Amino acid sequence: MKRRTAWGLMASVVFGLVSAVELGWSHDRPDDRHDHQTQQRLTPFDREVNKHGERLIAEGRRIFRFDTFGSEAFWGGTLRLHEAIAGSRNGGVGPGVSPKSALSVGLKVDADALPDPLKHELRRGRVNLDDPAVTVALIRLNAVVGVKGIFDGNRIKSIGIQCSLCHSQVDDSLAPGIGRRLDGWANRDLDVGAIISLAPNLRPFADLLGVDVGTVRKVLTSWGPGKFDALLDKDGKAFRPDGKSGATLIPPAFGLAGVNLHTWTGFGSVPYWNAFVAVTEMQGSGTFFDPRLNDRDRYPIAVRSGEDDVRRTPDLVTSKLAALHLYQLAIPAPEPPEGSFDKRAASRGKRVFEGRARCANCHVPPLFTEPGHNLHTPAEMGIDSFQADRSPTLAYRTAPLAGLWSHQKGGFYHDGRFATLRDVIEHYDRHFRLGLNEQEKGELVEYLKSI
Ligand code: HEC
Ligand code: HEC
Repeated sequence: MKRRTAWGLMASVVFGLVSAVELGWSHDRPDDRHDHQTQQRLTPFDREVNKHGERLIAEGRRIFRFDTFGSEAFWGGTLRLHEAIAGSRNGGVGPGVSPKSALSVGLKVDADALPDPLKHELRRGRVNLDDPAVTVALIRLNAVVGVKGIFDGNRIKSIGIQCSLCHSQVDDSLAPGIGRRLDGWANRDLDVGAIISLAPNLRPFADLLGVDVGTVRKVLTSWGPGKFDALLDKDGKAFRPDGKSGATLIPPAFGLAGVNLHTWTGFGSVPYWNAFVAVTEMQGSGTFFDPRLNDRDRYPIAVRSGEDDVRRTPDLVTSKLAALHLYQLAIPAPEPPEGSFDKRAASRGKRVFEGRARCANCHVPPLFTEPGHNLHTPAEMGIDSFQADRSPTLAYRTAPLAGLWSHQKGGFYHDGRFATLRDVIEHYDRHFRLGLNEQEKGELVEYLKSI
């Protein structure tokens, strides 16, 4: 037998280390054969579960960001929104939408989709943000968050929308409105009504609602930034009895894991609502079924258009719901930035929240909503029933509060009726006769900013 030389030994040790690292067996690297918390060996099926989860999350991210569900047939094909964006000089109609006006209605630009030279020019202020052709070029780069253009060479021939349109922000790292994506963060700058009202053809809405195009414009203009009305095309109720818009705030799509009912009025689960939106709001091609909407008194428009039972083919939605679901559940509520609240006051506020003010009765930490049937009647909440009455539940859902700091624009409660957190607390103080003093109210505000 040949004796090993020192070099040979060293080579095999080094080789051994390299292959151990490659195989992921080193102590510093996570491997997929053990649960790192318990150090238990994973069975082959355990590993399948992990892989399945990872794959669904990656797929879900792609769907959330980039999938249009075939909605271009409606936004481009029917409404011809792309023509208004391009403007007559770029093969569309009218003056077109410059990047400046796109940013001013809250559309966001994904800096990671921009080539380096363009980022450089943008930083130096050398890109013409008054030219609609630049907007079209940005759409072509897939850089306008939530908007997908369909192109024939340089010419935009249709447009579809994505979940990220309303439920993503960017971190403004390059310029205001231009930065890296923040999935799940509510876009409270986005003026959905203003964007839709640009469309050259609003007749489909007018016909659906049985009104004229002028009225449709008036309704769209009434929404304002950060709001959308997902029920208008079901019940036809554009305005509340007090004359204000029936639109609701865009909520975040993060921090939803563990929460039972979703939407402001608890319409259903995340996959329920995702199918509802993809098919009946985004007008994607897919299946949606909810016999609760088959109610002529409450949802006359939905009954007329058959939105209680939609079976469009091909179905581009159903196969995506699982991945989309898991992805949204995986998005955590973001931590508040350092220095954005007073730490000592917040920790005193936590005691008020869980104690004297009884907030935690409903906003049960750490979900900040009830484990269980998380709904309350308008009377319990001390507010009007307009929006609750539009939902099959007739109730308001206890809003999960984690990450609240990231969606303070536009106010609080479903319609933003309370402009500040202080106003929310004043409401509870009055309604529940809590008798909170000034200091306790201030501490509660700091706590709410910290969760
Ligand atoms: C045009 C803007 C818009 C688009 C596009 C949109 N949403 Fe929403 N989303 C809203 C609004 C507004 C609500 C609140 C509706 C309500 O409570 O009546 C909402 C509610 C939700 C909720 C409930 C959040 C909670 O707190 O319970 C989830 C989850 C959600 N959307 C996910 C999605 C997904 C996934 C997509 C793509 C399939 C999508 N949304 C597309 C505006 C939008
Ligand atoms: C009876 C149950 C209940 C109690 C008690 C309660 N809340 Fe709420 N909370 C709700 C519901 C339901 C909503 C949603 C109301 C709506 O959408 O109109 C809500 C909404 C909120 C919101 C707005 C969230 C958003 O995204 O706009 C804040 C902030 C809040 N509550 C804080 C508190 C604080 C602080 C207390 C204690 C002083 C408290 N809540 C006590 C049920 C409750």
